[in-house]
Amino acid sequence: MGRILLLYFSGVGNTKRIAENMYFVLKQTYEIDIYSIEKLPANFDIEKYDKLMIGSSTIHSEPAKPMKQYLEGIDKLSKPIPAFLFITCGLYSENTLRVFSRYCLDKNMIPVMHSAYRCSATDGVLLAPGIRRFWHDEKNLERRIQHDIKKFIKLNSLQPEIPHYKWYGILNFPNKWLGKHMRFKIYLHNRKCIKCGKCIKNCPMNAMDKTGDGYPEIDRSICINCYRCIHHCPKKALSLFSKKTPKKTLH
Ligand SMILES: Cc1cc2nc3c(=O)[nH]c(=O)nc-3n(C[C@H](O)[C@H](O)[C@H](O)COP(=O)(O)O)c2cc1C
Repeated sequence: MGRILLLYFSGVGNTKRIAENMYFVLKQTYEIDIYSIEKLPANFDIEKYDKLMIGSSTIHSEPAKPMKQYLEGIDKLSKPIPAFLFITCGLYSENTLRVFSRYCLDKNMIPVMHSAYRCSATDGVLLAPGIRRFWHDEKNLERRIQHDIKKFIKLNSLQPEIPHYKWYGILNFPNKWLGKHMRFKIYLHNRKCIKCGKCIKNCPMNAMDKTGDGYPEIDRSICINCYRCIHHCPKKALSLFSKKTPKKTLH
């Protein structure tokens, strides 16, 4: 068994948590590196790995934009490398894994296995905080992860496993439409904001900057709506959709 690479994009932290969980289990036995695609070292070389594990959050029924951009931007690998693709979703990921598989296959990362893990819904808890289901991961998530990584380690195949198109994916059309055409306003509550700049530093797209008076502002044309800024604000000074400050956020 050679070297394993665990690569992920996480908006708020669910995918990161799962990737780290996998890493801590595997590092006891295998040579494994873990990277967020936001912090890849210079001269990073995927080809030195023998197995890949790649994770992304689901944003409007597709892998998150930074993951898609990363995969589009890299050169096709000179040799096929087997990959376990995993996504986290809040409710229902529709054809996300299928889209993800296609992106990877194009780059010679062969999706030999895939899994979707239902986690807290980073959008749902802001839009409908009263729905309890949005706040929790699926039952027995850790056990499923353990089972999946054991299976992937044993798997010795280069046969792509691309999920079939699900006809009922059409039911998710309004969700996709919403993602493309609607943006909920992100409110800044000046009285709560301590101008710590955490939201600016954390933004995966560098879509935030300080205004002249020190408060953050968002360039929504770059923003991918991951809502990391809202969930990670130490003072709950940002809110989505409503002028009321959120009582609770994730993380
Ligand atoms: C803008 C936005 C759109 C989302 N769209 C979907 C979706 O279409 N289907 C789904 O099941 N979850 C969706 N989610 C929920 C996330 O996929 C889920 O909470 C995921 O675990 C977040 O992972 P992260 O914390 O690593 O970013 C969405 C979240 C956001 C912020």
